Amino acid sequence: MTTPLDGLTAHATRLSGTPLPALLASDPQRAQDFALRCGPLYASFARQRYDRAALDALFAIAERADLTGAMQRLLEGDTVNPTEDRPALHSALRGDTAGSAFALAARAQALSAQLRMREMIDALATTDVTDIVSVGIGGSDLGPRLIVDALAQPGARFRVHFISNVDGNAARRVLAGLDPARTAGVVISKTFGTQETLLNGRILRDWLGDDARLYAVSTHAQRVADFGISPERTLPMWDWVGGRYSLWSAVGFPIALALGMDGFESLLEGAATLDAHALHAPLRENIAAWHALTAVWNRNAMHAATQAVLPYDDRLKLLPNYLQQLVMESLGKRVRLDGGALGTETVPVWWGGAGTDTQHSFFQALHQGTQIVPADFIGVIRADHPFAANHAALLANLLAQTEALANGQHSDDPHRCYPGNRPSTLLLLDALTPQALGMLIALYEHSVYLQSVLWGINAFDQFGVELGKQVANSLLPALQGETEATDPVTRALLAEFGVTAHKG
Ligand code: F6P
Repeated sequence: MTTPLDGLTAHATRLSGTPLPALLASDPQRAQDFALRCGPLYASFARQRYDRAALDALFAIAERADLTGAMQRLLEGDTVNPTEDRPALHSALRGDTAGSAFALAARAQALSAQLRMREMIDALATTDVTDIVSVGIGGSDLGPRLIVDALAQPGARFRVHFISNVDGNAARRVLAGLDPARTAGVVISKTFGTQETLLNGRILRDWLGDDARLYAVSTHAQRVADFGISPERTLPMWDWVGGRYSLWSAVGFPIALALGMDGFESLLEGAATLDAHALHAPLRENIAAWHALTAVWNRNAMHAATQAVLPYDDRLKLLPNYLQQLVMESLGKRVRLDGGALGTETVPVWWGGAGTDTQHSFFQALHQGTQIVPADFIGVIRADHPFAANHAALLANLLAQTEALANGQHSDDPHRCYPGNRPSTLLLLDALTPQALGMLIALYEHSVYLQSVLWGINAFDQFGVELGKQVANSLLPALQGETEATDPVTRALLAEFGVTAHKG
């Protein structure tokens, strides 16, 4: 089966003998021309293993796939998630960029929820509550957790804590340090049917002992009410927002509690700026399009099996976890939108961690391993702390790693030889403000969507996670000895747990 991406192979073959230093030497304008800026966000693609001719081929594919029209359809609220018959209107949570009637109606709902969030936070600020515990998982946890970890300031009105894992140790550790009388809880679940969240929500509800300090965010008002949380303390969510795209909705309540509502709104403004850029900038000047095309180049022409994300800012150390859900739950698909077979590879494995710590763990493999791993390096120019020497060292390491990976260094001793030619993208923020972080996350969201368009897959469903949930549910009675597991290996494992089915 041939696909529109097959044409890239000829360029990859043509460039196979031209390593990155040679590409840079033969094209002195590359550092400038392969970089783009949108407000506080700068992106350099100069250390990717394509040249101008390969880029022409990539942008021709982008034109044929009508990436501009695809952005329009997303932001206007078209049914971009046909398997669930839904739009994906996370952009309406942060602005009215597209201006369609549907998007404007969604925007009105979002604004009214934001007003309620502000009122709830103001009311809570007049009480003795000092700490907030947020219970949720996946998209109902990772975004708020990332932003709070990145941007919460010491001395803020509320300290915000998170429980996600069904492992009871998660709840035990978080609650151990807190006083129920001075804590409020928020249970976040789009469906309000997620096993982990319901179990942890019950622990939190019982520990608080007072429903007046328990809040919820969900599309399912009835399930929330049945759980025992009153409608006045329930914030809405909608089917037109996907879980992993939901931090901009009331799912971001913990963010608004940690940063203040103004800080939350600045995050939304940043994302809205990127929405406008992704929609209006011509493809060659469009950071989301460059980022998506680069991902496709590395996967389908360079055949990279994994992609690293390496934030050089300790405040962004949770970004790889967040992006693993955003990218791999969205793009981990093996059939086309119409259900037909794909003739091409889709998402690589995303992984990573914060530099400089990770330089002392897995960077050896990045420099000298047998697999080439494309990397997104993320840096922040302004430090926001008084330790200037540390910041200079951090930025020197960031620059050094991207340079060393690309250029390598020859040695006659094979053990001391660095092959180089390892591609990276550098994303720089002027400072880690809520606006800039909102832009960065929106950039990844739109890049993911555009990759899905280029691959012809649905970025907004996640049926792959359902089977494991079903099997876990069916095994609960077996774990309690009430039934016998049908799978012979599971039966043997249950015997190791000391569980045997009760007879008769
Ligand atoms: O892991 C699957 C998933 O459905 C995610 O897509 C979602 O973010 C997460 O579970 C949590 O779902 P909910 O918000 O409904 O509890």
